[in-house]
Amino acid sequence: MSKLDFVDLRSDTVTLPTEEMLEAIRHAKLGDDVYGEDPTVNELEALAAERMGKEAAVLVPSGTMANLVSLMSNTKRGNLVILESEAHMYWYEVGGVSAIAGLLPWPVKSKFGAFDPADVEAAIRPRNIHFPEPALVCVENTHNRHGGTVVLPGQLKAIGEVARAHGLRFYMDGARVFNAAVALGVDVKEFARQVDNLMFCLSKGLSCPVGSLVVGSRDFVERARKNRKVLGGGMRQAGVIAAAGIVALEEMVDRLADDHRNARFLAEGCVEVDGLGVDLARVQTNMVVLDIGGLGVEDALFVSMLKERGVLVGVIGKGKVRLVTHRGIEREHMEKALEAIKGVVGELRVR
Ligand SMILES: Cc1ncc(COP(=O)(O)O)c(C=O)c1O
Repeated sequence: MSKLDFVDLRSDTVTLPTEEMLEAIRHAKLGDDVYGEDPTVNELEALAAERMGKEAAVLVPSGTMANLVSLMSNTKRGNLVILESEAHMYWYEVGGVSAIAGLLPWPVKSKFGAFDPADVEAAIRPRNIHFPEPALVCVENTHNRHGGTVVLPGQLKAIGEVARAHGLRFYMDGARVFNAAVALGVDVKEFARQVDNLMFCLSKGLSCPVGSLVVGSRDFVERARKNRKVLGGGMRQAGVIAAAGIVALEEMVDRLADDHRNARFLAEGCVEVDGLGVDLARVQTNMVVLDIGGLGVEDALFVSMLKERGVLVGVIGKGKVRLVTHRGIEREHMEKALEAIKGVVGELRVR
């Protein structure tokens, strides 16, 4: 985005591929990936596994499918899965956890996405004829509905210890785990090593048009590959997707820091606006959640008034407006967004 007339802060999924990605797609060596013969997919999968410090990886079309094949590959139908009560898997994945994976989701509340290990322990019910068998604990990192918060490696470690002590697997929806790593200034392996397996998305802050990777042990990824196929996610010349993914892993990770700086700038500006609530402690990566409850206005009206001023935002709950920074959003766009927010709030307050 270079013009100042339109600032799209609905999500980092709106990012378009870079010129380098389009060039890589144009020149990608292709084959039939269902036969394991697409060299570009094989290269991306090997690179993803290496970056995460795991044995293997498999490319899937979306984050939703990545979570679903991971649920299916970590459990048996009828098992119980412990999820964070605000988790994307629980809220936004059309109930696939039950409808397709056949699992009982057991939501547990947390602070900023990081369970208290004692709460996980309490949710793991004893083996008993009446109870579903608990199989899996899931975390989300960064945590979307908590505002892009980072679950720290030490917190993951403590949760994982509880899971493993009870024979459960530990999975991470790491759709934005590179944001977490960049925010902390650590290698992404610090997060990945705490979980048995994880997924991450190429098509969010990393700017790819399509794709997510499921990463873990060779056995797990073998099962995931099979489950991807049963869901119809076996793709043929998927090197056209993978080519952009390779560019993303090599070129696009470090720049996430710019998105974090821009989100912080916006959040600090919004804190100064009377009538808006912003929990700065949650502004850890590329998201800002505004509490507009104090303005006494319908969410939809607030959103449409911002749109009239050229700023697009999303709503994640009553009175909660989410703004997400990403590639193409520069400081000048943040300034424009801040002015628009001030303008809307000012107009609402004199009504
Ligand atoms: C944390 C998290 N997990 C999973 C997904 C699903 O990804 P997709 O939209 O590619 O299906 C998203 C999408 O926003 C997400 O934020």
